[in-house]
Amino acid sequence: MTRTHIPVLLEESIDYLVTKTNGVYFEATLGFGGHTEKILSRLGKKGSIVSTDVDQYAFDYCKNKFNNEDRIKLYNFNFSLIDVIAKIESLEFFDGVLADIGVSSYQLDNAAAGFSYSTKSELDLRLDKNLQKTAADFINNESEDTIAKIIFEYGEEKNSRKIARKISEFRKINRIETTDELKEIISLVTNPRYLTKTLSRVFQALRIHVNDELAVLKSFLENAVSVLAKGGRLVVISYHSLEDRIVKEFFKYENLTCVCPPDAPICTCGKVKRLNIITRKPIAPSEIEKQNNKRARSAKLRVAERV
Ligand SMILES: C[S@@+](CC[C@H](N)C(=O)[O-])C[C@H]1O[C@@H](n2cnc3c(N)ncnc32)[C@H](O)[C@@H]1O
Repeated sequence: MTRTHIPVLLEESIDYLVTKTNGVYFEATLGFGGHTEKILSRLGKKGSIVSTDVDQYAFDYCKNKFNNEDRIKLYNFNFSLIDVIAKIESLEFFDGVLADIGVSSYQLDNAAAGFSYSTKSELDLRLDKNLQKTAADFINNESEDTIAKIIFEYGEEKNSRKIARKISEFRKINRIETTDELKEIISLVTNPRYLTKTLSRVFQALRIHVNDELAVLKSFLENAVSVLAKGGRLVVISYHSLEDRIVKEFFKYENLTCVCPPDAPICTCGKVKRLNIITRKPIAPSEIEKQNNKRARSAKLRVAERV
């Protein structure tokens, strides 16, 4: 392996995150340790960081990378378990939480990781190999309607019905096992001009479904706020509109002091405001960063602070 991952919005995200040099921070998406390393560089001797990644390869890579660093604790857990990790570490709160969600360039570009449609690999797409169902299990066993729905909702792909129909025709003859086979099926019903975009939308949809990524993100945000110290920041980088919408809506809701109907004479909802929104609009990478790292192009950074 040569390339691993170029961290996105690195300076910007860490500038927002680290407010106490001797604080305890949580990095939800360790990957190849780019953000974690930057956080460490801003911390004093008494500062520390707890980082997790559900991907075994990323976890092993960082175990080795941070072998000589005693201010770090690494986990191979799903980030939605942030509250459980805090308990294991006997911590009531973190002083800041960062999540750089999605997948790394390594996962996207390397056949061995099983996420790439540009090289032949098993149609797996599980970030956590302990999950029961692979993408192949899904497209070979689910109804045509469900497949179309997932491709439409999670991939925002208009051609979802045609694609699902072709999948359904093909699997009657042979089980679809590889990324190549799926790619070929999609290419039969897609204008070559749009093939790359369609492939990335379909693979994104399957990945989101297989890993239940949107539900996991919601539960992560909820649990993260419950273990965030007052004044601590929740910093989230997302890469597609479905994720960004969840973060934006969550921040908006947590920023409210009352959710009673507008015509209610008095407030009875009992809503407690837990976050202040720091970035009214999401922060995007600079033009230079986008030019140097194509993966950064769709990134959006949002920050909120625990009140
Ligand atoms: C964009 S990469 C992070 C890269 C990292 N910030 C760096 O600088 O190297 C996203 C990482 O999050 C991990 N990930 C995605 N969903 C996860 C989840 N639910 N729990 C834990 N890790 C997750 C992926 O395996 C991937 O390594």
